[in-house]
Amino acid sequence: MASWVRFICCLYGLTTTHAAVTVYSQRPLGQTETQTGTTTAAEATWTGLAAYDPLILDPPSLPDPLPATQFGLQLQSAAASVNGLSIPVSGALFGFSIETSVINQVLGVNSSFIQVPFLNLISTVIARTGRFHIRVGGNTQETAKLVENTVDGRMIEKQSIDPNKPTATPILVYTMEMFYLLANISSLANVKWYLGVPMKDIDDLRLEIVQYGQQFLGDNLLGIQVGNEPDLYERHSARTAPYNPIDYVNEFGRVLEAMQADPNIPVTNNLIGPSVSSSGWDPELVWDAGFIPRFQDNLLAVTVENYPSDNCFAVYGGSGSPHDIQAEYVNYLTHDGAYSGLHLLQKFLNSSAIAQAANKPMVMFETNTASCGGFPGASNSFGAALWGVDYGMQLAFSNFTHGLLHVGGQNTYYNPATPPPTGQSTFQQWTISPIMYSVLVVAEALGRSNTSRVVDLWPNSGNPHTPAYAIYEHDNLARVLLINYMTDPSGANDYTASISVGGGDTNTPNAVPASVKVKYLRSSSVSNHFNVSWAGQTFGGQLESDGRLKGDEFIETVACDQAANVCPIKVPAPAVALVFFTDQALQEISPTSTITYATTAVTRTMNTATVDEQVLATSNGQTGKERAIMGSTSKGSTGAAISSHVIPGLTAIISVLTTVIIFTRLLSHSH
Ligand SMILES: *[C@@H]1O[C@H](CO)[C@@H](O)[C@H](O)[C@H]1NC(C)=O
Ligand SMILES: *[C@@H]1O[C@H](CO)[C@@H](O)[C@H](O)[C@H]1NC(C)=O
Ligand SMILES: *[C@@H]1O[C@H](CO)[C@@H](O)[C@H](O)[C@H]1NC(C)=O
Ligand SMILES: *[C@@H]1O[C@H](CO)[C@@H](O)[C@H](O)[C@H]1NC(C)=O
Ligand SMILES: *[C@@H]1O[C@H](CO)[C@@H](O)[C@H](O)[C@H]1NC(C)=O
Ligand SMILES: *[C@@H]1O[C@H](CO)[C@@H](O)[C@H](O)[C@H]1NC(C)=O
Repeated sequence: MASWVRFICCLYGLTTTHAAVTVYSQRPLGQTETQTGTTTAAEATWTGLAAYDPLILDPPSLPDPLPATQFGLQLQSAAASVNGLSIPVSGALFGFSIETSVINQVLGVNSSFIQVPFLNLISTVIARTGRFHIRVGGNTQETAKLVENTVDGRMIEKQSIDPNKPTATPILVYTMEMFYLLANISSLANVKWYLGVPMKDIDDLRLEIVQYGQQFLGDNLLGIQVGNEPDLYERHSARTAPYNPIDYVNEFGRVLEAMQADPNIPVTNNLIGPSVSSSGWDPELVWDAGFIPRFQDNLLAVTVENYPSDNCFAVYGGSGSPHDIQAEYVNYLTHDGAYSGLHLLQKFLNSSAIAQAANKPMVMFETNTASCGGFPGASNSFGAALWGVDYGMQLAFSNFTHGLLHVGGQNTYYNPATPPPTGQSTFQQWTISPIMYSVLVVAEALGRSNTSRVVDLWPNSGNPHTPAYAIYEHDNLARVLLINYMTDPSGANDYTASISVGGGDTNTPNAVPASVKVKYLRSSSVSNHFNVSWAGQTFGGQLESDGRLKGDEFIETVACDQAANVCPIKVPAPAVALVFFTDQALQEISPTSTITYATTAVTRTMNTATVDEQVLATSNGQTGKERAIMGSTSKGSTGAAISSHVIPGLTAIISVLTTVIIFTRLLSHSH
């Protein structure tokens, strides 16, 4: 393996200890083509931002022995007959964890400049689940400080503590604008937030984030994290050694007492911890320190933060070890691989049982394919989408109620969605990565009833290349999700699962319906960065997305043989198939209409996306009943499919609305 050397400027948002870092990336040489014939770009010269790194890995070679391509899958129709089902989970299982230092890139520059593509993207999820959870935090939350004004007038800014020590950990300063931004987003889309108390200085607690978070967000504030990865505080020199679980538990107690003593903080029963990374302390050490019983009345949820691997050596060097991601790619691409959700969650099953016994939700508060930004070619590939679907379903099966996928800046590989680079936002669109599709697929698999219970089926004699899950909703079989991890364009490793429901004796009659509906998540290779479709729709390629799915939705109808009690479901290599056993199971996740937005982020009409029909309905006398969709006018947009829906005259309405919002905004800030 040769080592590649690259320089990436302005690494932002990965850590509190580096403001600008030279990045040396280890990577294998020699891939020029994938099995699907995609040509790899000349990588040696790649000096750009990680999010646009074109490196394409080879798909792992086919397993030996090959899994059977025909197998039966016998299911029960009633949840009561199934062993090992999870507790009920909601379709809002996956959310985002957005590094505080990049919210100005991802969410909006300020409260009147919200990122329309981001609103569109999350409303695509909300149309399926009813709500979306976002945590604002990460390493950069620990030093965050509310200030009246930043030096350059921005909402958020990194400041060096001591101008004579430019390498000292910068603090993150933010203004009240951040609270207006979050509140305004929630007024446009049903986003619920998690915030975090900065813990850098336990003797000088900055509780403004709690006070204003509660005041501005109300019920849209889900909870407050106290301590981010405290098991690494000693390692990161955030605390002097020794810093033990009991020290964290006591600090948690001090924060709670300070909140309870603060008349501006009315709510103190929504705290979140311990958020250990578990690379320092196993969560058991925190349980043994009495954490849960001590804070039983004040805990919203019990949390951990974990990634299956890390790319820290490539980013920071140091004493870690480099990864040969081409060789390790396969670790993501089986049900029980070393980087699989199943493998990652094993070490937390005891904790999720302890949380369940304490009647507290268990949340994976920060996660993704690999910490320190993910791996080139892997984190941003279709393989990560398959991994993400399997991981999301495994989170549910393991009795976690939520998992928050971490979103960094331009220099990370794992972002579900990346805004265009600074300075290009007027003519470029967003980049939606394959892992974003996992969020949609898991949302649809779990539905919006809050009653879904999941079982990991291990079909095909437990073959790890062909996993499947069944989802029981309202105590009955609603959906089955099947994954094919293999890449084989010849079709020889497409498999067919013959699903039977009930049957066998008179007490359990044959129960397959006459037909089932199937939605596929497809791409030609696990290695692809783009060319991904979910039921025929796609977010498009690099710098191409305004956050909406494009193209016509295509849902297959598969006839079942009711006499033989079999529904044959084909799953291409690679793909995910989501099978709907009832009309209700499909209807509840089918958007009736996805609300899309025009806000003041749309100052230059090139990025104009769509109009919020509710705003239209209430502001200019139109009914808003008809879907008001406008084609994108952006350069290079691929919105041909939707431009036929352009409604003449809307442009003028948008301008008016935009002006009104800006005007209101200016008035409200004239103090
Ligand atoms: C919000 O951001 C936009 C775009 O940068 C800027 O024009 C506007 O002045 C900002 N508003 C405030 C109050 O900072
Ligand atoms: C949106 O932000 C502005 C300040 O920029 C504020 O006046 C307005 O009340 C906010 N709207 C909501 C719903 O919070
Ligand atoms: C689960 O955690 C508890 C609390 O730390 C511990 O006492 C128990 O031994 C653990 N059980 C297993 C199976 O690890
Ligand atoms: C999830 O919780 C249920 C209900 O307590 C339990 O039966 C099941 O074993 C748990 N699942 C796992 C994977 O621990
Ligand atoms: C599901 O749970 C969420 C959060 O508690 C709630 O807002 C929503 O109304 C519930 N949905 C249903 C269908 O009960
Ligand atoms: C992938 O999509 C791009 C456009 O985004 C298209 O030009 C290309 O032909 C597609 N490749 C494959 C293999 O489908």
